[in-house]
Amino acid sequence: MHGSPLFSLTGQVALVTGAATGLGRAISEALLEAGADVVCSDKDVTRLTETVEQLRAIRENVIGLGCDVSKARQVKALIRQTRDRLGRLDILFNNAGISQRRPARLHEISAADWNRVMAVNLQGVYACSREALKIMIRQKSGKIINIASIWGLVGSSGIKPLPAYNASKGAVVNLTREMGIEYAAYGINVNAICPGFFSTRLADGAYDDPRFVQALRDATPIRRIGKPEEIKGAALFLASRASDFMCGQMIVLDGGVLAQ
Ligand SMILES: NC(=O)c1ccc[n+]([C@@H]2O[C@H](COP(=O)([O-])OP(=O)(O)OC[C@H]3O[C@@H](n4cnc5c(N)ncnc54)[C@H](O)[C@@H]3O)[C@@H](O)[C@H]2O)c1
Repeated sequence: MHGSPLFSLTGQVALVTGAATGLGRAISEALLEAGADVVCSDKDVTRLTETVEQLRAIRENVIGLGCDVSKARQVKALIRQTRDRLGRLDILFNNAGISQRRPARLHEISAADWNRVMAVNLQGVYACSREALKIMIRQKSGKIINIASIWGLVGSSGIKPLPAYNASKGAVVNLTREMGIEYAAYGINVNAICPGFFSTRLADGAYDDPRFVQALRDATPIRRIGKPEEIKGAALFLASRASDFMCGQMIVLDGGVLAQ
């Protein structure tokens, strides 16, 4: 393994939710490249299987486990299987997330869509963190990284209205602060990444619309949309010893959107 030992994850066991595509897949790559044993998890088992096959080209130490993070029993089984198969859990990326079925203002969004978004984006973080913490507290060490959003820090209506998504990510931001201070004394660092606009499947084909992409570029000082692999540096920093003194904070990774 080359590079600074500060960022080495050799001997560490990492779990990434929503790892079949997009940012979760890129994060899994970064962890594997840094030497971790990686459990990739996703609700979409077909795509997860393909992704894990491809990730094996980097290193063999990767397995795929299906799990819908909105189902508490599946989450318990996921964490139990991780511990049984790999013996420990050092790093958890709460990455699985969904957007609203369509942009809609608060008085327009259905209760079903509101609850669906909360069940994955907020309850999923709660359920995975709760089970992982039971192991990390015993180990007296761990790293939990929540993937929030710039829409957890400011409203999105200037671009499109996403009240359920924004409320869920805002809750993840403050949950990160709460967990960060609660578990700091246990040797567990809890932090978050707030991505700006990255071209993934999240926006359900919206990135195929050149006008939408142009609007996002115009809103971004760096004048382009992020590539999924551009999350790797922040992910590796927060997963590694390099961030041992950081607790309950957000890294905003957005090409300058929120600096304006
Ligand atoms: N792409 C962006 O611009 C952007 C910006 C800010 C935040 N984010 C956040 O990044 C995270 C990753 O999103 P992405 O952009 O890579 O999207 P994506 O749609 O490409 O990937 C999300 C993955 O999560 C999985 N998933 C969805 N629901 C799940 C569930 N209930 N249980 C387990 N897995 C589930 C999907 O199958 C998919 O593989 C999300 O939390 C998202 O909110 C993305």
